Amino acid sequence: MVRGPLVDSYGRVHRDLRISVTDRCSLRCTYCMPEQGVPWLPRDTMLSTEEVVRLAGVAVAMGIEEVRLTGGEPLLRRDLVDVVAGLAALDPAPEISMTTNGVGLARIAADLRAAGLTRVNVSIDTLSRETFIEMAKRDRLTDTLAGIEASAAAGLLPVKLNTVLMRGVNDHEAVDLLGFALAHGYQLRFIEQMPLDAQHQWDRTQMVTGEEILGRLRTAYRLDPLPDETRGSAPAELFLVDGGPATVGVIASVTMPFCGTCDRVRLTADGMIRNCLFATGETDLRGPLRAGASDDELAVLLRASIGAKLPGHGINEPGFLQPPRPMSRIGG
Ligand code: 5AD
Ligand code: SF4
Repeated sequence: MVRGPLVDSYGRVHRDLRISVTDRCSLRCTYCMPEQGVPWLPRDTMLSTEEVVRLAGVAVAMGIEEVRLTGGEPLLRRDLVDVVAGLAALDPAPEISMTTNGVGLARIAADLRAAGLTRVNVSIDTLSRETFIEMAKRDRLTDTLAGIEASAAAGLLPVKLNTVLMRGVNDHEAVDLLGFALAHGYQLRFIEQMPLDAQHQWDRTQMVTGEEILGRLRTAYRLDPLPDETRGSAPAELFLVDGGPATVGVIASVTMPFCGTCDRVRLTADGMIRNCLFATGETDLRGPLRAGASDDELAVLLRASIGAKLPGHGINEPGFLQPPRPMSRIGG
């Protein structure tokens, strides 16, 4: 079997595979999709659990150490526990984590943990019911909160929380959200809004920047940056809060791109490899897989896709084009 590390043209070894297991979602976050949603991928184009596990196996043989399940909303996939169990049975077994909006997580957190899931990132943008409805177009704040609590209870630790701030909507809640995270021992990270919404309404002048977020947090907390060496390939810049040990993260994907240390590759629910969130092209693995390709042939395609990865996302360059796939069809 083809083995050996997945390296891009700049020599970066890739260790992190993100698998979108569905493009469907239970929410309609403004920065992701319009209230009426987006047309879902046809069912027959979506990879089966067996297909997902097979492709992950090829990647794991090439040095992928962490597999993160994303969506849409991964909890909407009915056989999610089977996907986790299949990944956990790979040799060598990758670390398995999930990015979720938490809706419905309370019901299934313990089963996911038992199947081999080790950590979750839950997206929570507000602690106010009204603002949640305004941002996500659904009245599900209590479900999200229950999901967060259940993850901690199930031992999916550390529980990480992701927040996207939108100007005039929830940006006044930065301090309250950090207070909430500190009180419960969750690790909060603020993410700059990226041009990945299906509506193409992203506007740089409206974006709440990392600098601005830090400014807001510093009205209530002392923040000391952790040394850069501790960051590795992680996108979040971490700060000790009031002398620690708690930290808060800022993921400034737009104003301070971390593309130079990125070691991630993405597999979409319909079996396409994307070497960057902002890639305009993708590599079809579903076609070859269903046409009977061997693991070696799939490995060659995967290696070629990563080998062609560009040095950066180019958001800040003239001529930047938003990718045709919105976030809900790529995964976080
Ligand atoms: N910009 C930044 N983050 C986004 N997310 C979804 N869309 C965007 C966007 N346009 C985040 C969600 C979630 C993860 C999947 O990605 O809030 O935490
Ligand atoms: Fe769903 Fe995540 Fe998109 Fe929100 S950001 S609509 S939770 S896929």
